[in-house]
Amino acid sequence: MQKSKVTKTPDKAEEKNAETEKRIPKCPQLLRGMKDILPESQKHWNYVRKIVEELAEDYTYERIDTPILEETSLFARSVGENTDIVEKEMFSFEDKGGKKVSLRPENTAGIARAYIEHGMLDRPQPVRFFYWGPFFRYDRPQAGRYRQFNQFGFEAIGDSNPIIDAQLIVMCQSLYQTIGIPVVTQINSVGCRECRREYEQLLTDYLSSRKKFLCEDCKRRLTKNTLRILDCKEKDCKEILADAPHIVDHLDEECKAHFVKVLEYLDEADITYQLNPFLVRGLDYYTKTTFEIWPEKEEGSQSALGGGGRYDDLVEVLGGRPTPACGFAGGIERLIISMREKEIVIPPPEPPDVFVAQLGESAKKKALRLVEDLRQKGIRAASNFSTEGLKYQLSVAAKLKVRFSLILGQKEMLDKTILLRDMEGGSQEVVDYNKVYDELKKRMEKVKAIIKNGNNHSEE
Ligand code: HAM
Repeated sequence: MQKSKVTKTPDKAEEKNAETEKRIPKCPQLLRGMKDILPESQKHWNYVRKIVEELAEDYTYERIDTPILEETSLFARSVGENTDIVEKEMFSFEDKGGKKVSLRPENTAGIARAYIEHGMLDRPQPVRFFYWGPFFRYDRPQAGRYRQFNQFGFEAIGDSNPIIDAQLIVMCQSLYQTIGIPVVTQINSVGCRECRREYEQLLTDYLSSRKKFLCEDCKRRLTKNTLRILDCKEKDCKEILADAPHIVDHLDEECKAHFVKVLEYLDEADITYQLNPFLVRGLDYYTKTTFEIWPEKEEGSQSALGGGGRYDDLVEVLGGRPTPACGFAGGIERLIISMREKEIVIPPPEPPDVFVAQLGESAKKKALRLVEDLRQKGIRAASNFSTEGLKYQLSVAAKLKVRFSLILGQKEMLDKTILLRDMEGGSQEVVDYNKVYDELKKRMEKVKAIIKNGNNHSEE
């Protein structure tokens, strides 16, 4: 017997859903290569930011923020017309006034522009900057590579001394070590304009006779920007490059002396580095030293954690006076991926100094004021106004690991007092409300002294 075909008629709920979908379109999705940084990840970000800021302060690098949007020509002239970044990866468009603008793919160009535009040549040199912020490259997204990503960076503009290059490397290695990521620095020198011109000719001659084995991109690079071929990741190109001439063997006297000095300083500072003759980096503005920082043992699909180098011509190329400079930028997402792979435990934040608990409406009002008064006097006070129960509030205080709680109930409101509870033993004292700050401060100092003495004894 032939089965009769059952056609399902949509029920009322389905019809309603379809109707709603027609009226309210689906929520737009996150763009490819972009990431939300959710509250649960913020502790990693805050920790890295704290370490970067502390390091910047120690080495007297001052914060600079430049716009995310700049004229497209800024990047074309600095990063280079024939680089992947400018050719393929920039988010560029015309603004409403018809100006060609781009979301910044990196920050060295913007900082060099700011240095020129604000006449910073008149300040004591080098001018040291540090930054932190989002950058944009329309690349193929994969682990550790995004279309919006974040970098921190350091730039020292106005000093040609090789010790600047070495100190930047020391500083960056120290940053990763402080966080707990063992790293190794790869280093090379791409020489100055003159020695590079000669080397480029040598490399072009070497590669031209092997052109048919190169990938399509490199064939094109051979006529436009030969040095970029040294970056190529294609297997066949890498094989051909294995016997290519090395730029360090073709440096002029000054560039050679500079490179030797950088390496000497690094040896002196006990920095482990590897010479990498192919490290020309994907940006055209470099002169002399180039370097990258890599995880010591490559785990997962990671690549360079950061990179930098000297860019002695950039300020001049952008229209300023000749000004030597050197810098570094680190990828923050890649650093956090490494931290997670290494299961690095982030030190918990310091607990608040005090918890303010309250019982009853009038106490709540007074406590609201008290939290703010304490905060203004430099005491970090926590509270939980949305719950009434004292037991619950004190359990929150215990969870926050605060040493002292202040309890304001109806009786205390009438007596103009407040209860000061030591959360470590549970002892409570009634103190005059008007003296709460002094009493609390006294006890906090006492605890601090006990901790300090304890530490001193354990060091002896
Ligand atoms: P860069 O090598 O292009 O150099 O980028 C530095 C770091 O940013 C990379 O090593 C990587 O960790 C991170 N990074 C780059 N692109 C992406 C991406 N698509 N997704 C995730 N992370 C990424 C520069 O940007 C130069 N401005 C560095 C510099 C400063 N040179 C001198 N001063």
